Amino acid sequence: MAKDTEALFPACPVHGYALRHAVEADVDFIFELDRSHMKTEVDRLYPGTWNDEHARSIIVENLPRARIVEWEGSRTGAYYWRAEEPSTAVLHSLQIAPAHRRKGLGRWLMGFFEAEAKAQGLTRAGLAVFDTNPALEFYRRLGYSACGRDGPSALAMEKAL
Ligand SMILES: CC(C)(COP(=O)(O)OP(=O)(O)OC[C@H]1O[C@@H](n2cnc3c(N)ncnc32)[C@H](O)[C@@H]1OP(=O)(O)O)[C@@H](O)C(=O)NCCC(=O)NCCS
Repeated sequence: MAKDTEALFPACPVHGYALRHAVEADVDFIFELDRSHMKTEVDRLYPGTWNDEHARSIIVENLPRARIVEWEGSRTGAYYWRAEEPSTAVLHSLQIAPAHRRKGLGRWLMGFFEAEAKAQGLTRAGLAVFDTNPALEFYRRLGYSACGRDGPSALAMEKAL
């Protein structure tokens, strides 16, 4: 990890976890993680719209802002984001493997996402979450509040950085 990025990196509250920048060899891992969680929901809410190729292309496009979390040498989670005019960092995806949830990892990763966006001069963080996703409460606890809709089945949320 680059020195300037390292300086932003909050200490991991859970022993043994480490964060790093994603590389091309991580694309399949991120794709499978996204797919395992997202496809069922997309198939249910927007039948026939999930597209593997498109999902993979979004990851490739955002690879410079994709991060991987590892535990004992195994990849256990990932997130990626992009900047949107004029000053918002949009979280595209945050996924933690089921066995590693509810240990504080999500909060830790979001802290890093927000710090990195802020360091780039962005003043808001935004995301969209399906109305039925329990992650809604996770984002609320991290200070995100509803700011509109993202299609018929998802809430748009944001937070000042
Ligand atoms: C959502 C997700 C990233 C949360 O990560 P996590 O590591 O389990 O969350 P943390 O342990 O850091 O929890 C942080 C806070 O959110 C709360 N929280 C986390 N998951 C929650 C859930 N499913 N329901 C209610 N609250 C939840 C925790 O209780 C904690 O609150 P507290 O600090 O006040 O006690 C993880 O569950 C996940 O990967 N889910 C599947 C993918 C997903 O839905 N991603 C979001 C797509 S928009």
